[in-house]
Amino acid sequence: MMIPFVRRIVYRSRSLAKYHNEALQQPGYLSSIFNLQGSSPALTEQCKSGTLNEECPGVLGDLPKNGTICGHRMHSTIGFRVAEPLRQGMTEMVPDLASFPSNLRYEDLVITRSKSLQVKPRLDASTLKFGAVYTDHMLQASWKDGLGWSAPSIDPLGSISLHPCAQVLHYGVECFEGMKVYKGKDGQLRLFRPEMNMDRLARSAARLTLPQFDKLELLECIKELVRVERDWVPDEEGFSVYIRPTMIGTHPFLGVSPTREAMLYVILSPVGPYFPSGLKPIKLYVETENVRAFPGGVGDNKIGGNYATTILPQLRASHMGCSQVLYVLQDGMSEGGLVGESGSMNMFFLIRQEGEDGELELVTPPLDGLILPGVTRDTVIKLAQGFRDIKVSERPLHFDEVERASETGRLLEVFGTGTACMIQPVMSLTKKDHTEIKIPFNADAAKYWLAKPPGTGFTLNSFMEEPFSLCGRLSRSLLDVQYGHVDSEWSVVIDP
Ligand code: COI
Repeated sequence: MMIPFVRRIVYRSRSLAKYHNEALQQPGYLSSIFNLQGSSPALTEQCKSGTLNEECPGVLGDLPKNGTICGHRMHSTIGFRVAEPLRQGMTEMVPDLASFPSNLRYEDLVITRSKSLQVKPRLDASTLKFGAVYTDHMLQASWKDGLGWSAPSIDPLGSISLHPCAQVLHYGVECFEGMKVYKGKDGQLRLFRPEMNMDRLARSAARLTLPQFDKLELLECIKELVRVERDWVPDEEGFSVYIRPTMIGTHPFLGVSPTREAMLYVILSPVGPYFPSGLKPIKLYVETENVRAFPGGVGDNKIGGNYATTILPQLRASHMGCSQVLYVLQDGMSEGGLVGESGSMNMFFLIRQEGEDGELELVTPPLDGLILPGVTRDTVIKLAQGFRDIKVSERPLHFDEVERASETGRLLEVFGTGTACMIQPVMSLTKKDHTEIKIPFNADAAKYWLAKPPGTGFTLNSFMEEPFSLCGRLSRSLLDVQYGHVDSEWSVVIDP
């Protein structure tokens, strides 16, 4: 596999060089860089003589002729590997990873505390409207091609200054993440599967030629920001602090070109329920004209541009009395089109299959490039796989099938999932001609499950007991993990 942009790599040891060379040979994987420092005179000799070059052709093909060691931090490890395969043909679009001589490092973090702290708002859903309140501090770091990352810092929350030609302002070079920190009754702060967010941020950044970073180091910096703001984290179920890591291209250049300067920042926002209706079901508008994602596009990345273009369709949805849009892509294969996701949620459909004793199938569209790989999506799939009487399928779902299931009383539940909204039941799908597909929602059953004592939501290999509310039961299970009512490897406790 050719990685034409990678140029200056000097390894400390042959075994490391060999390891990375092997990694680079794996189809679809991009393995980046490494330990650039502390080379021995012998290695320098090998560089000069080109011995390493021969050993690792394709990787070390363009070593500096004089064997210079690049990088400016002695012994710093710049290990990072894009965890998921990049789509074929994408690797050549990743910028010069070898030109990141310094990395984002937790041990370099500098904290400056704000002298004027805000009065914290009351804990209720109306004051803690999603995304309306921010905590006192932010985490930030900047990156420059050839210099790498600056030391990260936690500073009082404030405006950022950008050149008017910054790439983000013209070409939308921006990606972000959504995570949450929860406080349990035991007072402990927990993140939920944060490594998935770090992986996804790295993938989105790679897609936009934004710089890579060490995911564990960034996570440590985020944990520190949460520690600084720990008093902001509400300890009531349903409330949390939303974490928004963001990366933007700041290079002041109007040419459409790879990023040469970037900024990473993380802000925190205490939140209640995303939809004011809470676990009350919402209406979705079936959008068949505007498209959120398409084959070969970037619908599976968390980049700002994917959301900017959903705002207008969402406005139309709200004129139709709906809170969100359900994107259905006309794929030329079926009359109904391919069910995608909703503006900020992955979608799940509980359908009883045809025939006597038809099985219960929970269907969600597959990760085929059109769907954002949601953390809550993945969690719901894994939780639902624990119910022996429900089959979970990640498969293409055509809208005709949803309509047919509804007409024959087999569409039992529809809900969306996302970090912001958690699990959001849906009561109807409104089509352009104003006709509505109604979806059953058993409010009492949902309440029953939510009101169950914490820790009782989920037992592996259980049957879906009565009263029947899959989304109620899944919500209880999710809350149990997030608020630490049950032990789970998904929970990452932040040490005080
Ligand atoms: C999230 O669920 O974290 C999201 O990013 C949705 C957001 C666009 C509100």
